Amino acid sequence: MRVLITGGAGFIGSHAATLLTEKGASVCVFDSLVSGKRERVPARANFIQGDIRDRAALDAAMKGVTHVVHLAALVSVPESVRHPEETFAVNVEGTQNVFAAAHAAGAQQVVYASSAAVYGDAPELPKREDMALAPQSPYAESKVQNESDAVRMAAKGFSLMGLRFFNVYGPGQSADHAYASVVPRFIKEARAGQPLPLTGDGSQTRDFIHVSDVARAIAAALESDANGVCNIASGDATRISELIDLIRAACPVEVQVLPPRPGDILHSVADISRAKEVLHWSPTVSFPDGIRELLSV
Ligand SMILES: NC(=O)c1ccc[n+]([C@@H]2O[C@H](COP(=O)([O-])OP(=O)(O)OC[C@H]3O[C@@H](n4cnc5c(N)ncnc54)[C@H](O)[C@@H]3O)[C@@H](O)[C@H]2O)c1
Repeated sequence: MRVLITGGAGFIGSHAATLLTEKGASVCVFDSLVSGKRERVPARANFIQGDIRDRAALDAAMKGVTHVVHLAALVSVPESVRHPEETFAVNVEGTQNVFAAAHAAGAQQVVYASSAAVYGDAPELPKREDMALAPQSPYAESKVQNESDAVRMAAKGFSLMGLRFFNVYGPGQSADHAYASVVPRFIKEARAGQPLPLTGDGSQTRDFIHVSDVARAIAAALESDANGVCNIASGDATRISELIDLIRAACPVEVQVLPPRPGDILHSVADISRAKEVLHWSPTVSFPDGIRELLSV
């Protein structure tokens, strides 16, 4: 397997690159380093610094590639509201370039990142892949557009699998930008002895999935010839108050209760039966174990 990973210097991509090299694949990472880090790319992988908006660079990088993992994207929802054109150029046009270059290179399988954001805050739970989509931001809209572009490419007999990641967490996740995810943000505050800034009453739920399980899902999707989309999540609704309890068991800091943020999604949990059936994949890391591991290093 000769795999090109776009966004492979990022959080999820670097874990996927490590797992795939361990499995014996020949891996090349293609990343602009806009947020990714060169040092995260495993030593055994090749690295090309390039932008997915550059079709010629992608065509050159795809030569001889048999499989593609497409993760490169602008990932911040608030930034996408502020800069919708740039989000569209990278996440939609860039993805169209990746799909077209992979097809032109004769790749056998493309696995690309979608997101739980495509579901929006429709109240029906758990989220199933066949539910109506309700994107609420340019970021979410870009992921919906990726999925319809994949359907269009699949009609040409090309195999693409979209993975709708829920709340991914684990080692190497950045806490250093304004819109960092709740897990690295809270752990960073706790380590600094600062209060945990809790918006709302902590009863809101998220479906957290460990990045090692996400990397295994990517590998499983690459090895399959399955098409369509699959939720990649734990299937468990975890209250934010449970995260706080786990962190405070290790770092006894205060909690600063802030008013709920208007527009925040209250509850999110996935039905993961399709991923189990189609990809023969199941999550293995429990949320308490994953958080305790993060707190222990
Ligand atoms: N982390 C999550 O919880 C989560 C949830 C749902 C979906 N996703 C999706 O998974 C994918 C990976 O997310 P992540 O958390 O690893 O984010 P990340 O920001 O750590 O990784 C994204 C990578 O893409 C690269 N990149 C950005 N724009 C690029 C461009 N124009 N050309 C080439 N490279 C570019 C960045 O340098 C970075 O290395 C993204 O598509 C994201 O939308 C992530």
